[in-house]
Amino acid sequence: MSEDASLIPVLHALNAQLNAAVATLLDDAPPVSADRSKPEFSSDFQSAAAMQLVKILRRNPRQIAQQIVEALGDSDLFDPPDLSGPGFIGFTLSDAALQRYMAGMLASDRLGVPRTGQGTVVIDYSSPNVAKRMHVAHIRSTIIGDALRRLGGFVGHRIIADNHIGDWGTQFGQLIWAWKHWRDDAAFAADPVAELERIYVEFNKKVEADPSFQDLAREELVKLQSGDEENLAIWSMMIESSKHAFDTVYDRLDVRFDVTNGESFYNDQLQGIVDDMLAAGQAEISDGAVVVFFRDEQGEDVMPPFLVRKSDGAALYATTDIATVKYRQATWDPARIIYVTDTRQQNHFRQLFEVVRRMGVTTRLDHVWFGMMSLPEGAFSTRKGNAPSLHDLLDEAERRAREQQVERLAKTGEEWSDEELGEFGRIIGLGGVKYSDLHNNSQSNITFSFDKMLSLEGNTAVYLQYTSARTNSLIRKAASLGKVADGTTLKLVEPQERDLLLHAMDFDRAVNAAWDHGKPNLLATHLYELASHYHSFWQACPVLKADDEQVVMSRLNLSLLTRKTLVLGLSLLGIEVPARM
Ligand code: ARG
Repeated sequence: MSEDASLIPVLHALNAQLNAAVATLLDDAPPVSADRSKPEFSSDFQSAAAMQLVKILRRNPRQIAQQIVEALGDSDLFDPPDLSGPGFIGFTLSDAALQRYMAGMLASDRLGVPRTGQGTVVIDYSSPNVAKRMHVAHIRSTIIGDALRRLGGFVGHRIIADNHIGDWGTQFGQLIWAWKHWRDDAAFAADPVAELERIYVEFNKKVEADPSFQDLAREELVKLQSGDEENLAIWSMMIESSKHAFDTVYDRLDVRFDVTNGESFYNDQLQGIVDDMLAAGQAEISDGAVVVFFRDEQGEDVMPPFLVRKSDGAALYATTDIATVKYRQATWDPARIIYVTDTRQQNHFRQLFEVVRRMGVTTRLDHVWFGMMSLPEGAFSTRKGNAPSLHDLLDEAERRAREQQVERLAKTGEEWSDEELGEFGRIIGLGGVKYSDLHNNSQSNITFSFDKMLSLEGNTAVYLQYTSARTNSLIRKAASLGKVADGTTLKLVEPQERDLLLHAMDFDRAVNAAWDHGKPNLLATHLYELASHYHSFWQACPVLKADDEQVVMSRLNLSLLTRKTLVLGLSLLGIEVPARM
């Protein structure tokens, strides 16, 4: 038995047989499919294929359905199909097929999910700006991007995670001037990024009061750009200390990157790219600047123009992104590039994608964008009236998770070591924060709430972690009675068992949908529904007290399958699971 034995997802297998049957009825048949049946039907899957063929075959759908069923013949996947309504074909999986799938999933470290992903995918996420603390949008990007990295790698792609940090731009003129005149060395030693942020904010206040301050910044910027050694050293020091601060966040969240090519990495390519675009007629001069227009046949702008060189000759964020696409193409020849940012950059990426298309790039380009997250006021101490630091927020989540557990244990009289409580708080606290970013349709705006995310009720990480811990304690208890899930026995008695298994068998589809659409919430939803099915199963089906040993074994297997799915699924979202709760 190989670790990676992959299963043909059941719906693929079913659809393959269905399409083969339809192909015997006519040439060039359109693709047809089956789907999970609505609860009011007794079948597991249902297809409206016959209705789809009415216009082509000019027969009544019931007759067509009958012909399809005849053509399907005997299958080892399903029992003889039934017909209902105007011509629906209902499929009920055979006991043998259900057993085969369950055993196959249990025997595989990947739950039988095939590695179908091909080629390299670059994922551009987190991408915070130097000399500023990561703000909430960067945190969301970090968490969603990291989940996508895990999902893409799991389905078989080579992933290049690229942290496109903002380490270049006019703000460095201001930062350097302010650094030279206003820095507080002790404050910098204590928290470098906070100090850089402070002098930056300070500088901007000064500019507001007296715009001539801007000239001082411009001088420093010109010196930096022309290679002045002192300014270059200050600039690199700012990058290094910021990266170091970002790394403490990444380590804590277990987030990884393969490369961190910041914006400055592309500096020496920018002017050449703009010149080439001008020469190729892809960009034009307008009011002294270089821009790309997006116009329809009537000459109307369909999108705002894309500015790639300012009239003072400076390149921009946009120019850097064009260079970045070119570099990624040349370096990794990716099949897909995914960018993860908040909703405010939708226009930017729409424009960018169109520009590089015109330059001949055919790679699939996706902008995975998300809504804004607002933080609750006064939920924890804010420093110097600034936004809370991420570390404070994570500390608070861990503290609350631990506290809740201490209260629970006080009720049951159990004793846990300090270490175990600490580890528990970490897993539940971090899981809660991550899941609150991952479970929503990422495009909706959300409010951060500790109470909601650490609640055992509803679609939360804790609920999933709790369900998995419950299955684990059942499995341990069974083992102490000499009963170990054999991974093969399946004997279905109650409808809840079948529902649970059929849902578990849909893991492959959920993983692939989450990856393909760039929506980790599709996997989160699948796991949440799995946990809900498990709770219904738990209510209806005694496991260790069942009076038939085969049923006991079967229910242990279903519990193990639930456990494995929750653990693997959560790990693909970057979330750990405690052994017990
Ligand atoms: N640093 C940018 C920001 O904070 C995000 C960069 C996203 N990636 C990119 N290739 N443009 O808004």
